Amino acid sequence: MADSFYISTPIYYINDVPHLGHAYTEVAADFIARFKRLQGYDVTFLTGTDEHGQKIAQAAEAKQMKPKEWADEIVPRWHEAWKGLNISYDDFIRTTEARHEEPVQRFVQELYDRGEIYLGSYEGLYCVGCEAFKTPDELVDGRCPLHPTREIEQVKEENYFFRLSKYADRLIELWETDERSVLPEVRRNEVLGKVKQGLDDLSMSRISFDWGIPIPWDSKHVIYVWIDALLNYITAAGYGSDEAKFNRIWPVDVHLIGKDILWFHSVIWPAMLMALDLPVPRTVYAHGFLLVGGAKMSKSSLTGISPNELTESFGSDGYRYYFMREVSFGQDGTFSWESMVARYNSDLANDYGNLASRVLNMVGRYLDEKVPQAPSEAELDEGDRRLISAYERAFAEMETAIEALSPTEALKAAWTFVRKTNSYVEEVSPWALAKDEAKRRRLEIVLYNLAEALRLIALLTFPATPGAAQELWRRLGVEGELDRASFAVDGKWGGLAEGSKTTKGDALFPRFDDDKN
Ligand code: MSP
Repeated sequence: MADSFYISTPIYYINDVPHLGHAYTEVAADFIARFKRLQGYDVTFLTGTDEHGQKIAQAAEAKQMKPKEWADEIVPRWHEAWKGLNISYDDFIRTTEARHEEPVQRFVQELYDRGEIYLGSYEGLYCVGCEAFKTPDELVDGRCPLHPTREIEQVKEENYFFRLSKYADRLIELWETDERSVLPEVRRNEVLGKVKQGLDDLSMSRISFDWGIPIPWDSKHVIYVWIDALLNYITAAGYGSDEAKFNRIWPVDVHLIGKDILWFHSVIWPAMLMALDLPVPRTVYAHGFLLVGGAKMSKSSLTGISPNELTESFGSDGYRYYFMREVSFGQDGTFSWESMVARYNSDLANDYGNLASRVLNMVGRYLDEKVPQAPSEAELDEGDRRLISAYERAFAEMETAIEALSPTEALKAAWTFVRKTNSYVEEVSPWALAKDEAKRRRLEIVLYNLAEALRLIALLTFPATPGAAQELWRRLGVEGELDRASFAVDGKWGGLAEGSKTTKGDALFPRFDDDKN
């Protein structure tokens, strides 16, 4: 059986529909999941929705609805958004499902039975936007810097506490070894620095509202929404319901998150798992923020743009490519319409789309829409060999980039090959060869190489632009779905079958003209 690769996104709050920030995490996870499938892994890609807590209760109340009714109404919008971006998740978990709620109660009960939870009282500050307790020094002018439009709440109530403080040493040890990692490195240092200052126990129940999973031994309390939410990663993986699956896929290979929720994933979550002697995540990768005009995009700051406003103009492939390529993965990045138009036109319409239409045109015109016989070793010249090694290099570099979880670097590597193929077209000038009957075989050879390069470009770029990649395979007459392709079988140079029937088709990426659109 193939090795398992389990990747998760955060589960999103459903107080509203998705914006570009949420879609950013989702697209990155999808990119990595697709790449890993091509590498032959048995991938589990999990996403979902975080439906309990005050934030959702308040959103529902504002609509005069019950929280669950609100959730049922809005969750389909999240499915639609992900469909519109071609997200290939394997599972979508909602925290209001029984398959989540029941094991969460069992987990918490076991913590209690093991003496990991005690009753105390909490007095302090709470940001409903973050669903998190805050210390005064985390506030700016009395407000949470991530949610400046929300009032901070003063909370004073009886709460259950999880003995987080006792895990400080084990967490330091965990993240200091190289077997497990918090990435990028700067995030790991940030976490270690904070943990070394010591940890407080964590308030893990709330009593002043009831929209949550009840504490099993004391139903006046609901489980703190973050404890509930983090557990999705194991409830969806079969914890407490399908032990065989759980043992096969857990621990998770990558929790992909934004940097705002690093503390929960790299401190609270592994400590909860340690408390029940369960394996901890292999990697927590915290990417940067997407900014618009310098501010974090969010629902409350009104900079939230919905993904479909952009896919209408650039298609889902254009959208996915832009965010993965333009924003250096791991760092903050700024979205602008102008940079999106520029990136789309230069990389997709010109480099990739034009190459595809030129090659398909020439195979149509000179070779009657039929892929010629593949060249033998002896028929290849130096330039042909350079093209083939450029492909091999790009592929190797992409694998390295994905090992380091960098879609941006992976795409840079792919594009060196796209550009190399463009310069090969100029070098071999098929149109000149076509004029000379004596050069017929050479014409076939270079067009085979070009069609083959296109087939492989589609394979390499499938994780970023799956729609165009599949369409290109179809136009090249390649049988089979990229969804089921693998680098091992399909990634070898020379795989394009002689006699495949090609089709020209419209531009894969029509040039974006701001005046016309
Ligand atoms: N529900 C919690 C996560 C629980 S996971 C066990 C939550 N939800 S959220 O909807 O507020 O945000 C989820 C994720 O969306 C963030 O971690 C981040 O990955 C992403 N983003 C939200 N706004 C973002 C930007 N402006 N830029 C990039 N990503 C951001 O937190």
